[in-house]
Amino acid sequence: MASSSSFLFTTLFLSLYVCSVISTAKFDQLFQPYWAADHFSFDGEAVNMKLDNFSGAGFSSKSKYMFGKVNIQIKLVEGDSAGTVTAFYMSSDGPKHHEFDFEFLGNTTGEPYVVQTNVYVNGVGNREQRLNLWFDPTKDFHSYSVLWNQRQVVGGWWDRPVLSELNVHQSHQLIWVRANHMIYDYCNDAARFASVPVECEHHRH
Ligand SMILES: *[C@@H]1O[C@H](CO)[C@@H](O)[C@H](O)[C@H]1NC(C)=O
Ligand SMILES: *[C@@H]1O[C@H](CO)[C@@H](O)[C@H](O)[C@H]1NC(C)=O
Repeated sequence: MASSSSFLFTTLFLSLYVCSVISTAKFDQLFQPYWAADHFSFDGEAVNMKLDNFSGAGFSSKSKYMFGKVNIQIKLVEGDSAGTVTAFYMSSDGPKHHEFDFEFLGNTTGEPYVVQTNVYVNGVGNREQRLNLWFDPTKDFHSYSVLWNQRQVVGGWWDRPVLSELNVHQSHQLIWVRANHMIYDYCNDAARFASVPVECEHHRH
């Protein structure tokens, strides 16, 4: 689905905030600022992105990857985060592009973040799913991961090695998340889609 994709990690806040991304490899070997380079500062193996009322910041991978897995540790802005989106996504080039988005939608003080995912295939999106979270993503860094290959794209919250497929435990976690935390699924939105999108069929069994 995401063949020949590059990663684009972007973060956008309205309020002043500093976010640290820790990587085991030196940041600039693998990534480059994608926008707002003046909102970056480097500190050993950590990159700090400053986010203020002028701009957020984003970085992208230098290379493209046919398959892989990324782990990212994020602590989201707390308090009034309404109107902010913290996102990571991967996208191929061109008009008929493929894309996978993972977005944290900010909320007003005391109200929870919602996670929205979307998938574009051949330039067509409209595949939103929304989840609420079972932990407070603003209190600490949490690991989020995306696994992708030519057969599947999976977003997750675990932090264990994944080879090329989900193991049984992870498949069960995915089922649990769908059952307990999915608050919107385009697959079940008959008002938008007169017939069930073809890739949704297997969810129903
Ligand atoms: C941005 O925030 C700073 C500090 O809070 C403030 O002084 C400045 O006026 C703001 N600028 C804009 C364009 O809102
Ligand atoms: C904000 O929180 C409210 C109340 O919990 C929820 O219904 C809504 O979906 C949230 N909005 C966003 C954009 O996440």
